[in-house]
Amino acid sequence: MQSTRGVLIVLKGKNIIVGICGGIAAYKTPQLVRLLKKEGANVRIALTEGGSRFVSELSLATVSEEAVYRSIFPPTNKEGTDFTHHISLGEWADALVIAPATANTLAKLSAGLCDDMLTACFITLRPGKPILVFPAMDGGMFLSPSVQRNIATLSAGGCQVFNPESGELASGQCGTGRMPEPDTILLRLKEALGRSAPSSPLHELSVVITAGPTREKIDGVRFISNFSSGKMGFAIARAAAKRGARVTLIAGPVNLETPPGVERINVESAMEMYGAAESFFGSCDIFIGAAAVADYRPLSPYEGKIKKNAEELQLTLVKNPDILAAFSLQKSPRQLAIGFALEKEHDLEHARKKLESKALDLIAFNVFDHKTSGFEVDTNILTLIEREGQATELPLLSKDGAAEKLLDAIETVRLKTGIKT
Ligand code: PMT
Repeated sequence: MQSTRGVLIVLKGKNIIVGICGGIAAYKTPQLVRLLKKEGANVRIALTEGGSRFVSELSLATVSEEAVYRSIFPPTNKEGTDFTHHISLGEWADALVIAPATANTLAKLSAGLCDDMLTACFITLRPGKPILVFPAMDGGMFLSPSVQRNIATLSAGGCQVFNPESGELASGQCGTGRMPEPDTILLRLKEALGRSAPSSPLHELSVVITAGPTREKIDGVRFISNFSSGKMGFAIARAAAKRGARVTLIAGPVNLETPPGVERINVESAMEMYGAAESFFGSCDIFIGAAAVADYRPLSPYEGKIKKNAEELQLTLVKNPDILAAFSLQKSPRQLAIGFALEKEHDLEHARKKLESKALDLIAFNVFDHKTSGFEVDTNILTLIEREGQATELPLLSKDGAAEKLLDAIETVRLKTGIKT
């Protein structure tokens, strides 16, 4: 019996993709699939064109009890309405095992190419899910600089690449290049899943984050907005996804890449942000308001472009709804409401008042100085204030670093509040 913690139960109910490339060792993969199924795993196969020359699709479909995935583009069904699974398959998986991995596929993976189901799964796997790669090929090929370079790139990217074993090779020679036996691969997978077992209390929780500014239309070409870049909210989304949370990021107009594994909803105005957020009020576990929502909007935006003939222009502004307060005033005790307070002065009292008036569980106070904290810059200085009044002043950190500290504090508040998942 293996001593790895959790080894005996770790595969039950887990979704595993087995990626099979075109090497002679592919003939061993139906046995690997059988072992996985015996352990209670759900197995789906991503077979490359080369792999299909060495092992039959029918054998793999039979042992996995699932259709085998090959091309990103499905054969069109009778109604012509079948669709590609290139994203859903990767998102479904708890781990990806590529065995055998050929020199060709290693090169494609390290370059980020995505031209079949295996390479698509590699790219769409959710962050933090283990990827195990078992290269198997002729020993000379394995040691070639290009293969070694690609392996180094994959390892640096977080993949676990296992050296092939030594022994008799298909070429008739003896040397390094053999794929490990299926039971060894199974064991390596169990170890990897054991290590990646959820360690964060945020794992699988639904976290909704608002980020960036809103734009409030004056007319067809002008708007009222602010300097928020979205960096703070996006950093929180990135950090929460890394902890295994299911993250929805409601983003105002910003120029930032969506962090991996995060679902993004783009909005423009405060009313749109409110509408998008409201649909998660009942279901989310944690709501974090990092957006700089415009407090007011023009009462009646002009349809076209306002002419600039007049010396004065009167705009009537009306108050926007407070999204975070709306959430926290109706939330259940198992939900947490987290806010930000942006102030010009280092005055914690304002932040404390916001915490109370919006009935928040935690507020992150930051000052805007356009140099080190607040709007636009890559760093922030947060003071985290809990409902009981305890304030923790953080040092100057990158926004990613500040996001990690904020999530640590949220985990602690959840624990103190006694919320059970
Ligand atoms: O986006 P960056 O450039 O990275 O800058 C980050 C930030 C400075 C915008 C961020 O760290 C921050 O402080 N966000 C909140 C800014 C703000 O508008 O604070 P506020 O004091 O006006 O609002 C308090 C809280 O209520 C905030 O959580 C806000 O999201 C929320 N709110 C406010 C008004 C409103 N109508 N709806 C809301 O949900």
